[in-house]
Amino acid sequence: MTLHVNSRIADHVINPLFLERWSPRAYSGAEISKAELFEILEAARWAPSAYNAQPWHFVYARRGEEGWDRLLGLLNEFNRSWAQQASALIFVLSKTSLLPPGASKEVPSYTHSFDAGAAWGALALQAAHSGWQAHGMAGLDYDRARTELEVPESYRIEAAVAIGRPGDKTQLPEALQQREQPSPRKALSEIVSEGRFVAG
Ligand SMILES: Cc1cc2nc3c(=O)[nH]c(=O)nc-3n(C[C@H](O)[C@H](O)[C@H](O)COP(=O)(O)O)c2cc1C
Repeated sequence: MTLHVNSRIADHVINPLFLERWSPRAYSGAEISKAELFEILEAARWAPSAYNAQPWHFVYARRGEEGWDRLLGLLNEFNRSWAQQASALIFVLSKTSLLPPGASKEVPSYTHSFDAGAAWGALALQAAHSGWQAHGMAGLDYDRARTELEVPESYRIEAAVAIGRPGDKTQLPEALQQREQPSPRKALSEIVSEGRFVAG
């Protein structure tokens, strides 16, 4: 049985939300209320993490509100060109150390990025579920972000996220219009192996 949603085909029947989530660049510029944004962040909050350490931290700004220009200005030129029409920007951070149960001293965390990745995944799915879309961005100035967002050394800056309602793709340059559609995926056989690693 296959599942067709959003021009995507899943080879197994899964929740359609996984196919409905995608990363647009044409955003409508709609306003997002703090309550709507916090609903999306709430989903991230419930992600699993090693020792339930919850190493993630989210620095956000809503379009035209406190911090918007600062966060937007940290994106590279390409990402800024389309993300300026997003409704909110979020910088995802993760704490690189944790306090294991019963320990008196923090130790380096092996999984802080993995954990923050789970949180971002939940955030993106909740955004799609609520009629928004979240687009991850690694294209940003990490050094300047640390200074301007006052991020302590104990946190890694993972990536930024643009959240908005999908808009009219004709607002994008021609080359980007062609890419403005949900993308396919590798076959499961390429990314899964039984018992030991077998390259796909
Ligand atoms: C951590 C991360 C960083 C990304 N960085 C960028 C970026 O800097 N600019 C951009 O346009 N897209 C960026 N993307 C979007 C990916 O290209 C996109 O998620 C991927 O092509 C799969 O498409 P889909 O999200 O529509 O399914 C990033 C995505 C992730 C998860």
